[in-house]
Amino acid sequence: MNHFEYRDGILHAEDVAISAIAEAVGTPFYVYSTATLERHYRVFADAFSQEGLDALVCYAVKANSNLSVIRTLAQLGAGADVVSEGELRRALAAGVPPEKIVFSGVGKTVSELEFALNAGILEINVESLPELEMLSDTAQRLGREAHVAIRVNPDVDAKTHEKIATGKKENKFGIDIEYAGQIYARAANLPGIKPVSIAVHIGSQLTSLDPYRAAFAKLAETVETLQKQGIGIERLDLGGGLGIPYDASDSEPPLPSDYAKVVRESVGHLNLPIMLEPGRLIVGNSGLLVTEVILEKVGETRRFVIVDAAMNDLIRPSLYDGHHEIMPVREPAENAQKSAADVVGPVCESGDTFAKNRQLPPLDHGDLVAFGSAGAYGAVMASTYNTRLLVPEVLVKGDQFAVIRPRQTYEELLALDHMAEWLD
Ligand code: LLP
Repeated sequence: MNHFEYRDGILHAEDVAISAIAEAVGTPFYVYSTATLERHYRVFADAFSQEGLDALVCYAVKANSNLSVIRTLAQLGAGADVVSEGELRRALAAGVPPEKIVFSGVGKTVSELEFALNAGILEINVESLPELEMLSDTAQRLGREAHVAIRVNPDVDAKTHEKIATGKKENKFGIDIEYAGQIYARAANLPGIKPVSIAVHIGSQLTSLDPYRAAFAKLAETVETLQKQGIGIERLDLGGGLGIPYDASDSEPPLPSDYAKVVRESVGHLNLPIMLEPGRLIVGNSGLLVTEVILEKVGETRRFVIVDAAMNDLIRPSLYDGHHEIMPVREPAENAQKSAADVVGPVCESGDTFAKNRQLPPLDHGDLVAFGSAGAYGAVMASTYNTRLLVPEVLVKGDQFAVIRPRQTYEELLALDHMAEWLD
């Protein structure tokens, strides 16, 4: 459920008309709804408490790392899953307590590990033996003890887009689960390392619970084997990845309550606290990308709607064939004649296409349209390709809205480059 709906013929975010935001900040822009963020967080967190599980929800900051978004979730009790020093700095700046932060990722640098150790975060998820050794050296040098989880790769097919599947042997992530015993034994003997947890994350936008069931069963078995070896695992990190509906006609992905049931059934008997790392599920349907129609170009065989947002603002359609609903901000009349259109941006690539053959009502220069489900992996994946400015982000709460990232200016963008001195 989200808080974007038509009222009096205009698309609203909570009590704010999208057209009013457009007037204030121009287009394109991202807009997020606080009520939706809060609702998604609560539904997810409550699902686990209802199953009697002791669960810490560490929001995966990569999905949307705006400080106001992180703070909104932190105020509800969320921790953070971060994958870089930058994200860790964001989580801390937004007020997430270090003891609720987990650092994941397949290639952390020594300076990132140092920063994490000095910040005193909850755990570092290690994905290889060389990383474990690097962490041990770093921790010793700093006189600290690193609390680690080993991320295991369970060799389970998440049945999602290949670019976001992470749990198969051929993926770069984690340590093959059958070597868990060896690596934990090594970890237990390394100075500066305290193995406390085991982690798994098999992919993103999962629309079936079966891969989770398979992965968690393997994880539970591994934990029991480790316990027999005398290796104490204090908690489990079950990763993120639960999918969201992108297409109104899609079958709904599993509910958080069913997901929580699978978790209890597969690992509940271990009686360990768990951590979860949802990203998309919390923010995906809490955000829209709003854009203005520049013009319609009708060729012999095709109708193109050219908008002022482009692939550099929202890359999901080009990169993953991602589907985003397209909603005119002014509600189309019920009898409006729809016809197939390709919705494209101004970037000089044919891949700069948001939708192909989408049934849309007539759209004119100046009309506003919104792309749905753009709260996750939208603004965070934006670039300035074609020297286009990063677009603003706006957060709505009830009848108020705040610009939580202003539009970049050309001065700021050009100032990022320096002229080589011999060119002066
Ligand atoms: N934990 C780990 C270790 C992850 O790698 C990820 C996502 C998450 C948690 C959060 O997954 P979520 O709950 O958001 O599915 N840019 C892609 C998605 C990349 C996901 C990367 N890892 C997209 O737009 O579909």
